[in-house]
Amino acid sequence: MLFLANDHAGFELKTKIIKYLKKQKIDFQDLGAFSNERTDYPKFAKLLAEKVLQDESNKGILICGTGIGMSIVANRFPKIKAGLCKNCKTARLARQHNDINVLVLAGRSTCAIKAKRMVKIFLNTPALEGRYAERRKQID
Ligand code: RB5
Repeated sequence: MLFLANDHAGFELKTKIIKYLKKQKIDFQDLGAFSNERTDYPKFAKLLAEKVLQDESNKGILICGTGIGMSIVANRFPKIKAGLCKNCKTARLARQHNDINVLVLAGRSTCAIKAKRMVKIFLNTPALEGRYAERRKQID
């Protein structure tokens, strides 16, 4: 399952990503926040990390203003690999080299078109094996 979570600064971008997911008939679960009313990013990052960790095949998308707060919190969970991506190249490499299971986006500086492209790459790019897998093993 694909989980999505955001704070107030990520709400607008999330609604656009949700439209894209629906159009593509991609199943997802929206964990909130459900409006742009001020809230706190740590609780949403924690909620999403816990959900993603329930099954190895799960993935997540986190969005806050910069993407930094969500990244810091999510990466405190062992087995969560959250990558803040700014463009298609970093999204592709984050999957291929780092095997991220959580894509983090900066709601205040990422346009919807780019975000949708990054989501597509995140969902469809397999991780590379060989030296990349060897390096990933050294993380823990
Ligand atoms: C909220 O103003 C902002 O701090 C938050 O969305 C995020 O960017 C934190 O890292």
